[in-house]
Amino acid sequence: MNATIKKCLFPAAGYGTRFLPATKSMPKEMMPIVNKPLIEYGVDEAIAAGIDGMCIVTGRGKHSLSDHFDSNYELEHQISGTAKEDMLIDIRNIIDTAKFTFIRQREMKGLGHAILTGKELVGDEPFAVVLADDLCINPDEGVLAQMVALYKQFRCSIVAVEEVPADETHKYGVIAGEMIKDDLFRVDDMVEKPEPGTAPSNMAIIGRYILTPDIFDILETQEPGKGGEIQITDALLKQAKSGCVLAYKFKGRRFDCGSVPGFIEATNYCYEKFYKG
Ligand code: UTP
Repeated sequence: MNATIKKCLFPAAGYGTRFLPATKSMPKEMMPIVNKPLIEYGVDEAIAAGIDGMCIVTGRGKHSLSDHFDSNYELEHQISGTAKEDMLIDIRNIIDTAKFTFIRQREMKGLGHAILTGKELVGDEPFAVVLADDLCINPDEGVLAQMVALYKQFRCSIVAVEEVPADETHKYGVIAGEMIKDDLFRVDDMVEKPEPGTAPSNMAIIGRYILTPDIFDILETQEPGKGGEIQITDALLKQAKSGCVLAYKFKGRRFDCGSVPGFIEATNYCYEKFYKG
């Protein structure tokens, strides 16, 4: 199987109900951490991992996502030659470096379904998945770059995991597995949002994945699971049983920007670290 990861899928069609009313007409992924939308942090991380194909799964009312990665001639003409032009340097570089493709998920049937919707854009090759509302920061080597390096070595699906307090496991997909080397586990069980007290471990899946393309065949026939949604966790468990799925305890910090406390924490962190100077 191909050793390089060239495409990254961004499922961004969810309703973002934890952030209402802000997300009533604005995609959660466009909410800014300081002055940069969440999705742009995700795209930066993918580019840093050597990826240049950005495949975005959108839904109704999500035009601002495609507008953000396009030119805005009026604005650019207006500020041309002024000091403010510097503020567009990064996004212009992204637009010049990466190729963006978009597809709409017509019904919000869950993350697994959103990933399956992206099949048309990804094709038959291994790919990364970034849930942009999980903001991951590691200055030396981004989380996706760490995972791409592991993929080159092991050539199988990889999920990023983080240890969470026992009373929070019910919010996540949780794995169990055998440690094969430092921070790396071979998955043998996986449960989506386990009932309190029933989680197989405290290792929670966060929003970074490398998936091999056979996941699409599994998703095609995947029955709805927890919450009536097609769950990527259920499909990955099937992949783990028939082949190999790894769980990687990544280096870096993750902020759950889909929740108000995580969003505020990320804002304060990024303001201090990157903006204040
Ligand atoms: P979340 O569980 O965070 O759901 O989805 P959500 O609907 O966006 O947010 P809340 O819980 O209502 O506040 C995880 C990721 O999967 C995408 C979301 O956009 C988010 O990036 N997703 C989820 C889809 O693209 N389609 C879906 O049908 C469901």
